[in-house]
Amino acid sequence: MTILVTGGAGFIGANFVLDWLATSDEPIINLDKLTYAGNPETLASLEGDARHQLVQGDIGDSTLVSRLLAEHQPRAVVNFAAESHVDRSIHGPGEFIETNIVGTFRLLEAVRGYWRGLADAGIREQGRAPSHNPFRFLHVSTDEVYGSLAKDDPAFSEAHRYEPNSPYSASKAASDHLVRAWHHTYGLPVLTTNCSNNYGPYHFPEKLIPLMIVNALAGKPLPVYGDGMQIRDWLYVKDHCSAIRRVLEAGRLGEVYNVGGWNEKPNIEIVQTICQLLDEMRPKASGSYAQQITYVTDRPGHDRRYAIDARKLEAELGWKPAETFETGIRKTVEWYLANPEWVQHVQSGAYREWVNKNYTGRQT
Ligand code: NAD
Ligand code: TYD
Repeated sequence: MTILVTGGAGFIGANFVLDWLATSDEPIINLDKLTYAGNPETLASLEGDARHQLVQGDIGDSTLVSRLLAEHQPRAVVNFAAESHVDRSIHGPGEFIETNIVGTFRLLEAVRGYWRGLADAGIREQGRAPSHNPFRFLHVSTDEVYGSLAKDDPAFSEAHRYEPNSPYSASKAASDHLVRAWHHTYGLPVLTTNCSNNYGPYHFPEKLIPLMIVNALAGKPLPVYGDGMQIRDWLYVKDHCSAIRRVLEAGRLGEVYNVGGWNEKPNIEIVQTICQLLDEMRPKASGSYAQQITYVTDRPGHDRRYAIDARKLEAELGWKPAETFETGIRKTVEWYLANPEWVQHVQSGAYREWVNKNYTGRQT
């Protein structure tokens, strides 16, 4: 038994790979293009571990994906690979269309070919109906596909209409629709998760929480967009990983599960909390980190509020997050304080040299 993970050198994918192999001996083939967001240093503890194989490549490379599927015969594909940063999607949407839409399409087609072969073999060898094939394709998506909520609106349920507002969320929405259609049209055994904002170890310091921690420690301004009253619903990354494992294990085919921890917070409160934790754990010679907070021009089309209603996942599959926001954010700040080298290699670009030396051009 093996699973194929895509985008497993990124923030959530790498946490998923590390958590998976901490509790299971089932091997992982990790297909990652190693864009700026893919960092094999995150997976350094798996160096020499036969259960993990990192393959540099694109989910849109049908030949490569088909070859990996045929060679390794995975029982599941978990698709994390994506361009994921809203600000980057505003400045350059092209890559988001390529990877999130076209890439997902090509991945689905390669997986469909592989799955058909498995289904045919199942019928031939064991008289099994295609629907009894245990193969699963799990697509990891975001709450941003649902658009923006007003202050008193109920949280997003799985039935909420899609109203994506940024090039990023529109491209993820398109990928969700493709996944849905491949199930309805071809019967591909898919599962989709739509999760709220994640935070935790190995988060690339361009997103709110890691950026604020590393800027604070570097004595730089903490740029809060607009009035800082936009609300996001935060989930510790390891809780997202446990939700994905649970959905993969027991989710109903073709279903969508929203994932969230009921932790809505305005951005300014997040930044203030980080400053308080740093004041406690790494006090400055004088004053508070909060003095570095700087209000800057708002993001164009900035969604005001996201909130996830995770009751379906909780009731149907018995999933619960292990961390509250208070415990998760403390662990996160502690992790960044304990791992300055990881941050420094990302900021200096040294992690790219490592990628170039070890991976570029090497495919299995
Ligand atoms: P990330 O940007 O940290 O990592 C993405 C990974 O995908 C990188 O390792 C990158 O190299 C790889 N990748 C990019 N294009 C690829 C391609 N064409 N082929 C193969 N690999 C490619 O993103 P993340 O925050 O870890 O998010 C992972 C997934 O979870 C994404 O699909 C994202 O939409 C979704 N998601 C993220 C959040 C969040 O808060 N970060 C919340 C909900 C859902
Ligand atoms: P981000 O981490 O980019 O995630 P997303 O846009 O996918 O929700 O941003 C989280 C929130 O923080 C979002 O409302 C934008 C805001 N933000 C800032 O105020 N300043 C920043 O420097 C960044 C990166 C984000």
